[in-house]
Amino acid sequence: MGKFTILNHPLIQHKLTILRDKKTGTKDFREVANEIAELMVYEITRDLPLHDVKIQTPIGEAVGKEIAGKKLAVVPILRAGLGMVDGVLRLIPAAKVGHIGMYRDEKTLEPHEYFVKLPSDVDQRDLFVVDPMLATGGSANMAIDALEKRGANSIRLVVLVAAPEGVKKVQEEHPEVDIYAASLDDHLNKDGYIVPGLGDAGDRLFGTK
Ligand code: PRP
Ligand code: URA
Repeated sequence: MGKFTILNHPLIQHKLTILRDKKTGTKDFREVANEIAELMVYEITRDLPLHDVKIQTPIGEAVGKEIAGKKLAVVPILRAGLGMVDGVLRLIPAAKVGHIGMYRDEKTLEPHEYFVKLPSDVDQRDLFVVDPMLATGGSANMAIDALEKRGANSIRLVVLVAAPEGVKKVQEEHPEVDIYAASLDDHLNKDGYIVPGLGDAGDRLFGTK
């Protein structure tokens, strides 16, 4: 089974409270979502492998460390995942960006895929799939399916708020994927929203409601 990790760094938790607050407007919501994504990726990349590299400083020779292993890519699940991309790129500016368009039918809660555009070497990259919300888990599972169908073999799922139902579903269907969240919330309500959650992430990011 994939690992489920809550990143409870005090800065992440403080900023998450700002996002949850219904008084937080679109501008601040966007800024803070990206700040949390940046902090989360900082924590998640602690285990990246390093190798030695010889360089010349202005004074002499030195052996420094360089990130080894696969290159990275960030894959937002549209729309709301876009709200985390800039934060990730602030830390890993050379990462490539793939996009997966997914919307959840409001009545059935079933996910629907409408767009996929990925780096051509997706099979050679470590992927961070980002989406603020993991609710029923349907969208995340369908996004992971879409990636694996195209050759992806190293995927981590990074969400701001997770519901127990969604974590269970992803762990059952994709035990190869580790999940990272800023919070594990209580439950889903009858409309499929996370309680207490932060509302509709896409609408709050883009001001569409
Ligand atoms: C939201 C959210 C996730 C999905 C989570 O997207 O950003 O992608 O719902 O729900 P699930 O785990 O039950 O599938 P939404 O479908 O509202 O689309 P949007 O990002 O375009 O607003
Ligand atoms: N999508 C959201 O944006 N919020 C939720 O609480 C659940 C799904």
